[in-house]
Amino acid sequence: MKPNEAKIEIERLTKELTYHNHLYYIESKQEISDFDFDTLLKKLQELEKQFPQYASKNSPTKRVGGDITKKFDSVVHKYPMLSLSNTYSEEEIRDWVLRISKLSEAQLEFVCELKYDGVAIGIQYIDGVLEQAVTRGDGSQGENVTSNVKTIKTIPLQLKGDFPLDFEIRGEIFFPLANFDQLNKARIDLGEPEFANPRNTASGTLKMQDSKIVAKRGLDCFLYGIYGADAAVGHYETVQVAGNWGFKTPKASNRYIEKTSSIEGVMDFIAYWDRERSKLPFEIDGVVIKVNDYDQQEELGFTAKSPRWAIAYKFKAERVETILESVVFQVGRTGAITPVANLKPVTLGGTTVKRASLHNSDQIEKLDLYLGDTVYVEKGGEIIPKIVGVNTSNRIENAEKVIFISNCLECNSQLDREDGEAQHYCLNSLNCPPQIKGKIEHFIGRKALNIDGLGAETVDALFDASLVRNVADLYDLTFHQVVKIDRMADKSANNLVQGIRESKEIPFERVLFGLGIRFVGETVAKKLAKTLKNIDALCKATFDELIRIDEIGERIANSIVVFFKNPANQELIDRLKSAGLKFEIIEEEGHSDRLNGASFVVSGVFKAFSRTELKDLIEMNGGKNVGSISKKTSYVIAGDKMGPSKLKKATDLGIRILTEDDFIKMLDI
Ligand code: IVH
Repeated sequence: MKPNEAKIEIERLTKELTYHNHLYYIESKQEISDFDFDTLLKKLQELEKQFPQYASKNSPTKRVGGDITKKFDSVVHKYPMLSLSNTYSEEEIRDWVLRISKLSEAQLEFVCELKYDGVAIGIQYIDGVLEQAVTRGDGSQGENVTSNVKTIKTIPLQLKGDFPLDFEIRGEIFFPLANFDQLNKARIDLGEPEFANPRNTASGTLKMQDSKIVAKRGLDCFLYGIYGADAAVGHYETVQVAGNWGFKTPKASNRYIEKTSSIEGVMDFIAYWDRERSKLPFEIDGVVIKVNDYDQQEELGFTAKSPRWAIAYKFKAERVETILESVVFQVGRTGAITPVANLKPVTLGGTTVKRASLHNSDQIEKLDLYLGDTVYVEKGGEIIPKIVGVNTSNRIENAEKVIFISNCLECNSQLDREDGEAQHYCLNSLNCPPQIKGKIEHFIGRKALNIDGLGAETVDALFDASLVRNVADLYDLTFHQVVKIDRMADKSANNLVQGIRESKEIPFERVLFGLGIRFVGETVAKKLAKTLKNIDALCKATFDELIRIDEIGERIANSIVVFFKNPANQELIDRLKSAGLKFEIIEEEGHSDRLNGASFVVSGVFKAFSRTELKDLIEMNGGKNVGSISKKTSYVIAGDKMGPSKLKKATDLGIRILTEDDFIKMLDI
């Protein structure tokens, strides 16, 4: 393509993709399939690679991240980022409304909003283009996290409509709960400790150096304030207008924002969200009440720290008192140490709580815990309840202080904590019993070697009988050894030995996942297997070679290099190889990457193929099978007897529906 043609094509694609992004992320509508979208995006990526001089610095390709920021620059806020005065008391809200109503002669209008529990951000737009995004920091200066913020799909890179030429918009970046849960599930899969709560994780994510990881995590943002431009006379109207420029702003239709002139209206909004907040797909920690009219806001002015024209009402987190009975330190399969508090059982939010996570040594230090202490336990958005404080007036005399262990309780080796990490690790991965058992359990799991007839209890028994110390030992087990184990009947022993034998047919990528290399989850294992083809190539790959592979970052690369450097791991792999496990990818006939990036839902009854065969075909050609229809689904393959509700959902979401024949044509088979 000639440069001038490329320039025009890049502009055209940029515009088209920006339009579809807005439609999808802000208006929740879809005109083209994910597959078509990805095709356009890939085209743009390729053209930008060839003709970087024409790439817009806010190209939709920035959404996938890629910039590595070693250190975030400090930026002074043009308008200081103040905080809100807040209260937990409804009475104080009433007093505030009455007080400021008296200060102003005219009738006041209030805007009630949600208080999003995330991280504040200020984003500057010049000529409709996202120029810079800065965190709150200390309120007068924050960190420049622009490259990370550009990956957040609901924040427009290019505005539309009649926007002001130079202004700042502020809002809150947060972790949607569904994405947060998904992230934690993936961490469990990797043997990593779960993240404690969405807010801190959003904050940590925003400060990550690799914007590619940020892009994958799926942060979101609501915008709530404009600085440096007068788009309307009041706050409420301005927020609505900003919606027209492409921002995700709260809407009155679902009561995310509401205008009222009365105390009753304010109190009703508070009561509604105190009741309904658990149904929201993100966390809020209260509501914010603001005076609407900008002139009146100016009249009311500011105190040193916060505006007089706004106040936050914070919801009380449900909190109970109970006794801290003991603290245990759990060792995960990767050696991560998690302190867990055993509590005197207590009812909280409808469930009985017996345990609370203490996360790490810093947390224990901060709480200054003693055994037998009366502790306050809260259930926020977190999965596991947490101890938020100690009622020291009840402290028992001569109580024993809770001290984080310095040596592993299971194997006594000294614990290690890397600079900048909150977690302690036991590095004795090859000899520490819970790590050994955890690794074996991971190896035999459904997504790895999927060994029939073997579960956690049997692993314990095999370990106790000194029959296994690592996953290679499984392949030396004989029927006679196994049958001697307590409660192991002939049939179960047979099943186990046969299950182990059959696992030798499991493909390389799953064996690789099963090895439990830190940070090598299912997807990464697939990627590595596909790219490097066999274990020898992986073992020889240098750090630099590894990070050149798409989706492999420094953390993963480093962990792989460390794993293969260890002679014990080399020996383990040699033994597994001799046992006959697959350490090389088998490029089977009929495989292609024709459906790369596309996701499918297969539903109904078919003629030429069974449903499983269709699903296999999808995977063989690089596509992904997903269980249920969502706006992210690219295609639905509809057979006879597909449920009408499914069909309607697909049609409503504008997802392309294929017949069996369409699909066959698509694959050219
Ligand atoms: S307005 C001058 N509105 O709460 C104050 N803040 O302590 C401007 N927040 O740092 C803030 N939801 O991060 C405002 N609807 C909302 C908010 C909100 C959450 C956060 C924001 C701010 C903190 C105030």
